[in-house]
Amino acid sequence: MTSLSDATRGRILYGGDYNPEQWPEETWHEDVRLMTEAGVNSVTLGVFSWSKLEPRPDERDFGWLDRLMDLMHDHGIGVVLATPTASPPPWMGHLYPDTLPRDEDGRTEWWGGRQHFSHSSATYRRRAAAITEDLAARYGAHPALTLWHINNEYCTYDWGDEAAARFRDWLRHRYGTLDALNTAWGTAFWSQGYGDWAEVLPPRHAHYLKNPTQVLDFKRFTSDMLLECYTAERDIVRRHTPHLPVTTNFMPLWAGQDAWRWAEEEDVVSVDLYPDPRDPFGAQSGALVQDMTRSQARGPWMLMEQAAGPVNWRGVNHPKPRGLNRLWSLQAVARGADAVCYFQWRQSRQGAEKFHSGMVGHAGARGRTYQEVKQLGADLARIAPHAAGAPLRADVAVLHDWHSWWAGDQEGRPSRAVDYPQVLGAWHRALWQSRLTTDFAHPEHDLSGYRLVVVPQLYLLTDTAVDNLLAYVLGGGTLVCGFLTGVADEDDRVRPGGMDARLRELFGIRTLHEWWPLEPGETAACEGGLRGTLWSEELEPDGTADETVPYKGGELDGLPAVLRKGRAWYVSTLPEPEALRALLARVAAGAGARPVLDGLPDGVEAVRRGELLFLLNHGREPVTVDVPGTRHDLLTETAVTDRITLGRYGVAVLKP
Ligand code: GAL
Repeated sequence: MTSLSDATRGRILYGGDYNPEQWPEETWHEDVRLMTEAGVNSVTLGVFSWSKLEPRPDERDFGWLDRLMDLMHDHGIGVVLATPTASPPPWMGHLYPDTLPRDEDGRTEWWGGRQHFSHSSATYRRRAAAITEDLAARYGAHPALTLWHINNEYCTYDWGDEAAARFRDWLRHRYGTLDALNTAWGTAFWSQGYGDWAEVLPPRHAHYLKNPTQVLDFKRFTSDMLLECYTAERDIVRRHTPHLPVTTNFMPLWAGQDAWRWAEEEDVVSVDLYPDPRDPFGAQSGALVQDMTRSQARGPWMLMEQAAGPVNWRGVNHPKPRGLNRLWSLQAVARGADAVCYFQWRQSRQGAEKFHSGMVGHAGARGRTYQEVKQLGADLARIAPHAAGAPLRADVAVLHDWHSWWAGDQEGRPSRAVDYPQVLGAWHRALWQSRLTTDFAHPEHDLSGYRLVVVPQLYLLTDTAVDNLLAYVLGGGTLVCGFLTGVADEDDRVRPGGMDARLRELFGIRTLHEWWPLEPGETAACEGGLRGTLWSEELEPDGTADETVPYKGGELDGLPAVLRKGRAWYVSTLPEPEALRALLARVAAGAGARPVLDGLPDGVEAVRRGELLFLLNHGREPVTVDVPGTRHDLLTETAVTDRITLGRYGVAVLKP
């Protein structure tokens, strides 16, 4: 078993996607000079190089890559080598139209962009395997090679005919018989009963609402098909280089793949992260993804891509103000990253991403972006000997599950205003603002190591997951569940009573009479000043709760908005941000989960990684932070006694 440490060897990997095929060879020499000057020790090659490597079917052109691999090695820069299978060459779609995916309306996704491959196409898979095999055979023994990067951000769907055939196979495997499928999908509704497997299709364009379990299974199937594409390539490279780790880069909190399942198949978990520099919660949304990626990795992880400046895919694309790139990069290291990499090294002059920043922007080496990249390289080198490989400890886990998201986020629900990622983000933000270090976990994971488990919303819970939550509370853990949790079983069938009976008993709820979703902007007042948003519930308590916070006024007047029975809490609304923060801070304190530091000024994040204390000022004004005792700031190489001032976007990495 290999891991990230086989690639980092005690360093923090620093670098990014390098697309030298877009540049003349003289530029390559300028590039390595600038890389060396900036402390870059890793580049990712070949992500979109298929048409260059295989210009015509079965022809190979490796000469340019041979020279690059050597050039990198000569300069001490390691190579993360990508299989180029995310963007097949034009000849592929032209000669083999069966490799092109179809959308749900039956339209073909043509070449001319990228990711125009059908995960289900046998031709695509065969050709992807062939180029992977040849790459692995040619470069497996190259001394520059440190890590394999399979494909890029697997994220495609396909509703076409070959995908339909594979979907039927997948369903046969899951259900065995059509009867079982009809039962699971509830096809008695709207005359959907299937009498022949050939009738079963992906959920293509339909007149009105689609069968929700069919949609759910299609999402499960898609994740599994893409995973098959990944593991097929992974197994090829592993055969050649069993000593080298393999990864594929996730998109942050991406709906299209069950990343818990995928992470089990990776040696290194990596993610691409692009918070909006103008988002007032950019730092927290970054922290959420960092916490989730660390939890999937169960240890150090890799920031495979971020932007040194603006991206080009938002409505308005803002650059990063001076210092922000450094701050967010060090935040990733604080939260467990052992690699800080970018898309991309040199900003393109042509193509769809020419207005996306690079580590070297259009302004070149004199530009502010590159100058800051250079400073960051020096910072990372200073902290690497102490930070790389060091673990983080969290007392709190937030539960998240893709299947629940897929089931819960469909049409035909009580409220379209409920957006799962937003709810998840709101709960994570409340914990982040309380400086509680948080892991994420799957609802069936072992939770016994956590003092507090938080479930923002798990609409779908398997029986095993319910058992797990009950056992966790029985074992002394503290559980807080948000609204719309435990509603559906694995087939998206509503549980009797509208919420799992054992969970109702756990929280002291006799009857869930109705859900009362709120309009956007509407609030539900509760005793003690708490106000709920988005949702409320008409709950009849069974009299066993130890504590309740009732709704005040309106239709639900006097009914419990929040219930606590022993160590189990149920919150039937989304409290406004400050109220949610205060509630979770109180519950966490009761559970013995401690914030990293008390009394921090607003906007200052504190994270402990191993023996290091990272302090990150997300504000534009300087702040002073009390840190009793004497420590050494690795970034400034000075001693810090009792207090430290952090400038705009300032960071300190303190070692005892
Ligand atoms: C990522 C992708 C990169 C580049 C980047 C731009 O999603 O992997 O190739 O497109 O976005 O932000």
